[in-house]
Amino acid sequence: MNPNLAKLQPYPFEKLRTLYAGFEPDAALSPINLSIGEPKHPTPEFIKRALTGSLGGLASYPPTIGSIELREAIAAWLVRRYGLSKIDAATQVLPVNGSREALFAFAQTVIDLDRGEPPLVVCPNPFYQIYEGAALLAGAAPYFVNTSAERGFAADYEAVPEAIWRRTQLLYACSPSNPTGHVMPLDEWRRLFELSDRHGFVIASDECYSEIYFDEEHPPMGALQAANRLGRSNFARLVVFSSLSKRSNVPGMRSGFVAGDAALLKSFLLYRTYHGGAMGPAVQAASAAAWKDEIHVRENRRLYAEKFAATLGLIKAPLVAGMPQGGFYYWMKTPIADTGFARELYRCRNVLVLPGSFLARDAHGGNPGANYVRIALVAPLAECIEAIGRIADFSNRL
Ligand SMILES: Cc1ncc(COP(=O)(O)O)c(C=O)c1O
Repeated sequence: MNPNLAKLQPYPFEKLRTLYAGFEPDAALSPINLSIGEPKHPTPEFIKRALTGSLGGLASYPPTIGSIELREAIAAWLVRRYGLSKIDAATQVLPVNGSREALFAFAQTVIDLDRGEPPLVVCPNPFYQIYEGAALLAGAAPYFVNTSAERGFAADYEAVPEAIWRRTQLLYACSPSNPTGHVMPLDEWRRLFELSDRHGFVIASDECYSEIYFDEEHPPMGALQAANRLGRSNFARLVVFSSLSKRSNVPGMRSGFVAGDAALLKSFLLYRTYHGGAMGPAVQAASAAAWKDEIHVRENRRLYAEKFAATLGLIKAPLVAGMPQGGFYYWMKTPIADTGFARELYRCRNVLVLPGSFLARDAHGGNPGANYVRIALVAPLAECIEAIGRIADFSNRL
């Protein structure tokens, strides 16, 4: 067996099952699950129609590069959304079967084990666990850069020693961040691009929450947008990962894209050709329709904004949580250890949340997720209000 498989950690939801095992919730209260970041708003009808209207394509193998119609729809979206001066649908855009598989597969394309020193993959901490698994199965080691409330949840790249940067081949960024909701501003991107220029590492920017935000006038900045603003219009060593799962409420469709540096995408396409990463033709047609429409995305945002507006005021000391800049999570500070908090909340109030320490690793003297829980506002409005009310009341009586 590949010995690197043994290095993989159990997924956070497995840890959650273990944490709750043997504890019975109060059956008088309806269960509310806010632990999983799975969108639950209905899939728009026009996307379903585009999917079922394209079943004719099932009779042939789709090319891995995807249809030009889909790549052009994505390129046009990128130009509209991020004001890019140009992006080439032929060489700088590649459809993928959701951003998760692509975030994983990309590391397998980038990591070079013959470059001398053992390779490192820099990840924010807390983080989306796929980055770690991708690094480990590519034969690299993750290097965690902590984020903290004191720094507004920006990763502290200045604390990374030169010797680490020298070994770094890939860096994952996540903006808006899962779980903290932090959005990277232009200055943070500028600094990362400088570091990438100096040390030659590739930046993989995970932007799957980019369309969940609360100020229609100020959508989160994306990495391609930052590069474009800074005159880096060839996107050297930069690739972004985007997804329809959250934007269009189609997590089951498995549809996203990768865009950026043409040379990196050429190698990634080669890798995917062998890996077998082509997107089915019906999904391609439905995806093109979804990327062309913004009306349903605005409505989706409105539903999340409504839930945050209705619950933010219920969060009081000893709890601490603010509005995220993007995404659909509260990253909530807990008055007791996050694991005990989550377990007792389940037992006494039948509400499931995810302990923050499950989303982070011990690094540089602590686990930056400890004493936080991640709360996904994915349930219907009334359930979110009920859940946050129960959490507030539970915390008051601790
Ligand atoms: C930070 C982050 N990146 C990527 C993904 C993967 O999303 P998908 O594969 O549905 O595009 C998720 C899903 O929850 C996520 O939270």
